[in-house]
Amino acid sequence: MSGDRKVTNILGIETSCDETAAAIVADGTIVKSSVVASQTKLHEKYGGVVPEIASRAHIEKIYPVITEAITQAGIDREKIDAIAVANQPGLTIALVVGVTAAKAISLIWERPLIAVNHLHAHLQSAIMTEKPELPAVAIVVSGGHTSLYDYRSPLEPVLLGATIDDAAGEAFDKVATILKLRYPGGPSIERAAKTGDPDAIKFPRSLLGPESLDFSFSGVKTAVLYYCRGQDMKGENKVDSMSKQQIADVAASFQAAVIDVLLEKTRRAAEKIGARTILLGGGVAANSELRNRLRQMCDSAEPPKKLLVAPKQYCTDNAVMVASLGYYKYKARLFADLTLEPKATGV
Ligand code: KG4
Ligand code: ZN
Repeated sequence: MSGDRKVTNILGIETSCDETAAAIVADGTIVKSSVVASQTKLHEKYGGVVPEIASRAHIEKIYPVITEAITQAGIDREKIDAIAVANQPGLTIALVVGVTAAKAISLIWERPLIAVNHLHAHLQSAIMTEKPELPAVAIVVSGGHTSLYDYRSPLEPVLLGATIDDAAGEAFDKVATILKLRYPGGPSIERAAKTGDPDAIKFPRSLLGPESLDFSFSGVKTAVLYYCRGQDMKGENKVDSMSKQQIADVAASFQAAVIDVLLEKTRRAAEKIGARTILLGGGVAANSELRNRLRQMCDSAEPPKKLLVAPKQYCTDNAVMVASLGYYKYKARLFADLTLEPKATGV
């Protein structure tokens, strides 16, 4: 009888940056609950995430967020099979809050503890409803990372390239600050770019040589700064005297430069491993222009490639992606123990 089939419920916990999140996901795909407490308002006046403030806010929110996720799921906590937590990469003093909570719950409920890599979890959002045809190239574009993978399975994406300086999302955020647009910068740049001309200003596309699969976005960010302050950097930031249209043109031209690089590196990686599928995840994957242009690239490839993109609500940090990846680790019995620690780095 199909009703007898045991469903595996994983509680996912995420505190790597500025979202406190918990979710319950069944069998890696069925979202039973998802709760995200965003700290955007707390960090807004600083124009970026302040680690100390983030950590304190996680401490305040972690218990109510987890409780809410369990309530929303409407399942008895006895039915939760394991606790998955993002333990790397991220801000250590933020990660430690989720890791400590997960360890405590695992100990008290006598359920296995599963450590999840936050970047690999971002990719999970892209494959929850449809599986990739292998080989696949996966790209995570977030505030802290820009990473390309040879994706063979959820458990072992192999890193092909990463940013050598700023992450793409970080560049969006910094350029938004230069343009005096609202925090967080990514969505503000996207909004402003909608009425701008992407060809108005030729910002640099740093490709780091013909073979490289690494990224560099600090150059394009600095180019926007020079554009706004004058080449000697001594001038006033001209933004205050720019028209709305000029600001839109800078935003659109910057966005086009970043997307051109992301697409070119993805194309190179796909060619290198003969990819049949491209996966896209991470906060910047919420950007419609990036989604549309990657779609065009995949459709016009010969032969066309399958494209799996994270749904918009699961692009930015959330715990559904953590619980979903936790399910694959649960099946593989890849458990952590109470010595688990947060780690700032991780690929
Ligand atoms: O994955 P995420 O939530 O956090 C990290 O793991 O870093 O990504 C956050 C990043 C921020 O830099 C934010 O500005 C960017 O994703 N972002 C966007 C958009 N929505 C969020 N960037 C461009 N366009 C968007 N629509
Ligand atoms: Zn993230």
